[in-house]
Amino acid sequence: VPFCWSVFDIYRKVPKDLTQPTYTGAFISILCCVFILFLFLSELTGFIATEIVNELYVDDPDKDSGGKIDVSLNISLPNLHCDLVGLDIQDEMGRHEVGHIDNSMKIPLNQGDGCRFEGEFTINKVPGNFHVSTHSATAQPQNPDMTHTIHKLAFGEKLQVQGAFNALGGADKLSSNPLASHDYILKIVPTVYEDLSGKQRFSYQYTVANKPHRQNYPSNLVQIRPQSNHSQVHREEAAALPLHHNSKLSHHWLAQ
Ligand SMILES: *[C@@H]1O[C@H](CO)[C@@H](O)[C@H](O)[C@H]1NC(C)=O
Ligand SMILES: *[C@@H]1O[C@H](CO)[C@@H](O)[C@H](O)[C@H]1NC(C)=O
Repeated sequence: VPFCWSVFDIYRKVPKDLTQPTYTGAFISILCCVFILFLFLSELTGFIATEIVNELYVDDPDKDSGGKIDVSLNISLPNLHCDLVGLDIQDEMGRHEVGHIDNSMKIPLNQGDGCRFEGEFTINKVPGNFHVSTHSATAQPQNPDMTHTIHKLAFGEKLQVQGAFNALGGADKLSSNPLASHDYILKIVPTVYEDLSGKQRFSYQYTVANKPHRQNYPSNLVQIRPQSNHSQVHREEAAALPLHHNSKLSHHWLAQ
């Protein structure tokens, strides 16, 4: 008798005419297919979705800044004439500039009753502030109306990303007391933004603490005070893997 290899078959075939489909079997099969589909889709979405990695390191990421930060400001004061509006910059290194005009534009609004100030300037990485005020005007007005809307306030290299890079963008103080001054205290955090091509851009994210003002504070101003603690770098890395393993999106920043 020739040796028959088929005795090792664990999965023996049942003759076709002995099988019988049942409703329970069909139900379980459909359930299995749905479950497999669910697992496949959830794994796929997990693969495509962004992964966030946090890292800490100590240093100021932007070594070439020369201790300076670029600022981009866009603010409208709908009830203050452009002749009265000016930008003043002040800091602990002794800088005190009233009516800064380089790279800035004043655009009349509301038939000249209001003004939009758009400007780009640099500040030193030392304690200080900058403010939009009437201080540079030749004659100080009686009751200047400091109500305003901030369209944009961003630091560092320009990014298309909004959120914490432009936290004051959209701040609306149009219904506040017209004679009030405004003081925005910002906590700013250096951020390295690395785009999909690996290009790094040095920017800043910030949060705003807006303190209500003392009554007789030096008046007529919208003051912005950026503060930073260069103690720690907090790095957040969002690794997007949309079918390319080597593409990534990351940003790191100094944390308080
Ligand atoms: C400033 O904001 C206004 C209002 O959103 C906008 O129309 C204008 O283009 C902005 N200017 C710049 C330089 O982005
Ligand atoms: C910086 O950090 C120190 C210690 O953590 C803290 O006392 C100080 O208030 C911080 N300064 C700012 C501007 O956040």
